[in-house]
Order: sequence, then structure tokens, then C-alpha cells
Amino acid sequence: MAEFALDPALIYLNHAAVAPWPQSTVAAVEAFARENGLHGSQNYPHWLAKESSLRQLMAQLINAPNAEDIALLKSTSEGLSFVAYGLTWQAGDNIVSIAQEFPSNRIVWQSLQNQGVEVRLLDLAGSEQPEKDLLALCDSRTKLLSVSSIQYASGRRMQLEPLGDYCQARDIVFVVDAIQSLGAMPFDVQSCQADVVVADGHKWMLGPEGLALFYCRPALREQLKLNEYGWHMVEEVGDFDQTEWQAAESARRFECGSPNMLGVHALHNSLSLLLNQGLDEVATAIQRLTDFTIDQVDANHYQLITPRASDQRGGIVTFIVPDQDNQLLYQSLMEQGVMCAYRGGGIRFSPHFYNTQEQITAAFKQLKVLL
Ligand SMILES: Cc1ncc(COP(=O)(O)O)c(C=O)c1O
Repeated sequence: MAEFALDPALIYLNHAAVAPWPQSTVAAVEAFARENGLHGSQNYPHWLAKESSLRQLMAQLINAPNAEDIALLKSTSEGLSFVAYGLTWQAGDNIVSIAQEFPSNRIVWQSLQNQGVEVRLLDLAGSEQPEKDLLALCDSRTKLLSVSSIQYASGRRMQLEPLGDYCQARDIVFVVDAIQSLGAMPFDVQSCQADVVVADGHKWMLGPEGLALFYCRPALREQLKLNEYGWHMVEEVGDFDQTEWQAAESARRFECGSPNMLGVHALHNSLSLLLNQGLDEVATAIQRLTDFTIDQVDANHYQLITPRASDQRGGIVTFIVPDQDNQLLYQSLMEQGVMCAYRGGGIRFSPHFYNTQEQITAAFKQLKVLL
């Protein structure tokens, strides 16, 4: 696919880490750089229109009712921190999550322990039905439940709807770290009833690091205490002479200062590309590739860590080569140009829709050579 013109020496199966940019995104960034060099911020109104359009694309991506519900933050970790330090906690409140979550979605909750908040972590290793087991950890003092839509190491996709149903019925704040889903498959914040959805743009969304989508249900937004202040988060933005101010009603209240316009131009292009392609089509292509990857794992008698059922996974396939140092194998694969990751004790392949079966075959061939 012409949009992906990677160095032919690479086989890029690492979209669950940091993705390469499409060529049109490279061009958008180059054009933005040239514009800055020639005209400075003369076209700032156009940049603002691009920023506003990005919010619309993000709303479309997660089926948010309103683009005003979306803030542009710098990372997933920042969004999770805004929730943790926006809520008011009482000693004895508890938070339910998963032990194997990416550290950003664990450390932030554990940081509340010095306020007497208990963090209850489900060990996925011993869980046949994680959704059921997560809910079994909840009680009348559970104030928040936080999961990744797809686990970064095992690749397990969580069934979000039953979690959302349960949380809504009990007034538990339901937080979804969707970084391993958005851009790889359709996502519907309304059907899963998440109160918060957060995801940085540098993985499946094919954007740069440092620009994240943060959705917060309006009713919760009003409850969250703000912890960052500045000119950009007030209702009357741009009226610098005004001495009275109030926080913006929209999710812009979480954006304290100047926007990341370079990131906006890049992510706008990458998201447009994915949405034009169609997330259903993207997801189907990824599933074909991950099915094929699992066939290769089986054919080589490697041990699959990712759940086999197609509705329990997304773009991640993690596996162990038995009786081998898998970390060393991963390092050797990387040296040979097979871009992958070592996660959860295994080798993680995460192909995006433009990868080919030939590339995956070649990656496994390389692995065999190394063995
Ligand atoms: C599940 C998950 N959450 C969050 C992140 C990254 O967080 P941040 O956007 O804060 O860098 C990753 C990156 O690997 C991840 O896999």
C-alpha cells in the first residue's frame, strides 16, 4: 500500500507499541513545517479549524454524542491522572482493575492508596472469565473500575458492555484505556457506557506520540476537580483582558494551555485515512492477519498466550517459543528488522491493516532461522 513506504529491510509488526506514519501524514507534517517557516502563525485560524475537525473525527471514532465531550491531552497517563485526581475519595473507597494492566493504568490508582483508597487487582492469569471476576471484586465501596479494552501484553480483548451495564447501575465510574483498540477496530462509547475513554494516538491511530483523545461523560466532567489551569481552559478563551473567568463547559476545561498544533496536523491526517478506509474494513483485515499469525504459531508448535477466540482479541498476538530465551529471540528479531515487542514473557506481533501475510510468513521464517 503506497501510504506505507517503510524501509524494505523492516517487517513492521509493532503497532501496539509505536506505529509508523502513513506517507500522507509525513507530507502533512512537512507542509505544516514549511508553513511555519514561511508564514509563522499567519494561518492560525486554519489551524484552529483543523483542531476542531480533529475533535469531530475523534467523536466519530468512538461514537461520542458530541465533539465537545472530547479533550486533546498529551497522553493516556495524563487523562487517567485527571480522573484519579479529579474525583473526591474517602478512606475505604476502592478501585477495581487488572494486575496485568499497562503501568499507567495501575500506578495512577495505586498513587491514591495514601488517601486510604484500596486498589483491588484481578490476576488475569488465574481467570477464565475476567469480566465476571472483575465484577466479583466490586462491592458497595467500589467507586471506579478501570480496564484496557485490549490488554497490551496478552492481547485479551475485554467485553466492555457487561462492565458498563454493571457500573452504570451502581454509579461506579467506568474508565476504559482504549489505546489498543482505537484505530484497529470500531469502538462505541455509547454502547459500552464508559464514563471515560482515553487513548494516545501513536499506536493503531498511526499518529505521533504526545496527542491523546480524552472523552469524559458530561455529568462526570462537571464533578471532576480541575488540577491544571491556564488561558486555554476558560469559557471565554482568547479574551485576555477579562479578569473574571470560569472553566469551559466543554471538555476544553482539561486543556490548560496552547494546543499541540503539530500533533493535530499529523493525527488529523492519520485518523482521516483510517476513517475513510472504514474501521470495519480495518478490523477485518487485522483479524485476517492475526488469524494467520496464530496459524503460524500453531504450525511451529509455539505456545499461544493471546486468547484463541476471535472475539477475545484484537490486533495483538503474543506467543512463547518453548525452551528458549524469548527475550533474546525478540532482540535478535529486532536486529534482523522484524519490529515486534517482548511483553508478558512472550514475543508480541501486532500487525495493522496494511501488513501482508507474506510479511508475517517472513517474520516466522526469520524466527526459525534464529532458532
Ligand atoms: C494499555 C496501554 N495504555 C497506555 C499506554 C501508553 O500510555 P501513554 O499514552 O501515557 O504513554 C500504553 C503503551 O504501551 C498501553 O499499552
